Amino acid sequence: MSAGAAERTPRGTVTDAVLCTGLTYRFGTHTAVDHVDMAIEPGEMFGLLGPNGAGKTTTIRMLTTLLKPAAGTVTVFGIDVAARPMLVRRVIGYVPQMLSADANLTGVENVELFARLFDVPRKERKEKVAGALDAMGLTEAATRLAGTYSGGMIRRLELAQALINAPRLLVLDEPTVGLDPIARGVVWEYIARLRDEHQMTVLMTTHYMDEADAYCDRVSLMHRATIRATGRPADLRAGLGEGATLDDVFRHYTGDTLDKAPEEGGLRDVRRSRRTARRLG
Ligand SMILES: Nc1ncnc2c1ncn2[C@@H]1O[C@H](COP(=O)(O)OP(=O)(O)OP(=O)(O)O)[C@@H](O)[C@H]1O
Ligand SMILES: [Mg+2]
Repeated sequence: MSAGAAERTPRGTVTDAVLCTGLTYRFGTHTAVDHVDMAIEPGEMFGLLGPNGAGKTTTIRMLTTLLKPAAGTVTVFGIDVAARPMLVRRVIGYVPQMLSADANLTGVENVELFARLFDVPRKERKEKVAGALDAMGLTEAATRLAGTYSGGMIRRLELAQALINAPRLLVLDEPTVGLDPIARGVVWEYIARLRDEHQMTVLMTTHYMDEADAYCDRVSLMHRATIRATGRPADLRAGLGEGATLDDVFRHYTGDTLDKAPEEGGLRDVRRSRRTARRLG
């Protein structure tokens, strides 16, 4: 995707959909996101990839206004997230990593709740809620309790919720986690179609490298709180040599997923320190 005629500078363009500069977050003494720079162009489908604990969700929570950065800035369509969080909330839709739909409400009620939260005018609410459910193929199930939905239907319901305010930026944290291959395909087709129909920008995380390869224009590889590589999947693959897959790229930049610091429960470091202890002891 092109950012049009806008001039690209080291700090991105004024038209960047998302621009993170030196973005940092700490949980106590643990730095979960460490000086992350990331620029996403309007209309792009952008994947943030990385092993468990890399800092993906924490990054997303900062740019969706839910966590306040310790340092650095993030803007969404030029709006500073720290300075104007309510304005930013109006232009984003967010599907969190954990399932968030209320099992005790029907499909319609779940989406209506979001319509109220996101200030959709009362007069337009009914029509917009019905439209969002229809776009996700949930019209028939709309009056059933969400507790009776399958995992794939719940993910689609959450997408309907995220789309209720016609977001310019859709943020999806592992949208297909726990879904069977058919349901994953359905969710991706919906997302791709929505992106095309509404010229949305999409930022998402996934652990499925085949999905990232098939659907992302560009990806960033995140490991231990920092971005290790950014580019088109095909370019990153080509960079490793003929026949390389995005799985290979992932391993190249992030190492074995067991290769974590001991405080994160990494097995490899524990094994290594045990060996060292034996040698020394
Ligand atoms: N509420 C919290 N309190 C303390 N530490 C946290 C908290 N949430 C996350 N962390 C730590 O911050 C780091 C980044 O976590 P984050 O959830 O952003 O990772 P992630 O890349 O989304 O991982 P996953 O792929 O497992 O979802 C991890 O080391 C994690 O243990
Ligand atoms: Mg996460």
